[in-house]
Amino acid sequence: MSLITYGIFGAGGNASELLPILKEQLNTSSANKYKIFFVDEDETKKTFCNLNVLTTKEFMNLNKNQKKIVLSPADSKVRERIVDELQGNIDFINLISRDFVNLSECSLGNGLTIAQKCIITSGVKLGNFIQINLNVSIQHNCLIEDYVTIAPSVSLMGNVKIGKHAYIGAGAVIKQGVQIGPRSTVGMGSVVVKDVPEDTTVYGNPAKPKNN
Ligand SMILES: CC(C)(COP(=O)(O)OP(=O)(O)OC[C@H]1O[C@@H](n2cnc3c(N)ncnc32)[C@H](O)[C@@H]1OP(=O)(O)O)[C@@H](O)C(=O)NCCC(=O)NCCS
Repeated sequence: MSLITYGIFGAGGNASELLPILKEQLNTSSANKYKIFFVDEDETKKTFCNLNVLTTKEFMNLNKNQKKIVLSPADSKVRERIVDELQGNIDFINLISRDFVNLSECSLGNGLTIAQKCIITSGVKLGNFIQINLNVSIQHNCLIEDYVTIAPSVSLMGNVKIGKHAYIGAGAVIKQGVQIGPRSTVGMGSVVVKDVPEDTTVYGNPAKPKNN
């Protein structure tokens, strides 16, 4: 039986929420032995949630058979930096809560985290290194590009497109067919009824660009 070592990158609030999902996934599906570390560049953090914290270098130098990574940072640029640094040397796993509902004909990329009580319906396409927090619903034919971050309790109606590195704040509702441009931010509680250009922050009901 081989030993697999898992690194949850980031040792903060989101990582603490992902740890039970990882344990659940490993305890139900894995015939292998495993060990879990947190990985964080803050060298003053030695332990977190009763597990050891290593730097990236220490984690990569561990002499273990196989290593796998979970990406916890909510900042998509940080996730991208980790991916750029380590891709090719290591597996980025999909960490998906057991209660995730994926109805039909959906495609999932790599390096995703999907927390509890999320549902995607039909024809949804999720790219790579996306973070989907608690209680998110994504309806038919939505397209979510790489490195998107979706906070808790967001609702995306059908055919919504979210561009690369966009951030959708907690409780936002996005109308069917709306496109959110790359690197844009939707404020918490917003109701988005029109397309949002790239690099734009919007909030409110109906959502309007910040400073307008
Ligand atoms: C929209 C957002 C990105 C703006 O952040 P910011 O640029 O730091 O803006 P500020 O906090 O300086 O607020 C600027 C103004 O917008 C208002 N505002 C900020 N966010 C708002 C929102 N979501 N809805 C309505 N008004 C909002 C503020 O009250 C403030 O108004 P004022 O100028 O009249 O005082 C941020 O407030 C937000 O909603 N982030 C998402 C948080 C979230 O979902 N977290 C989930 C963690 S899991």
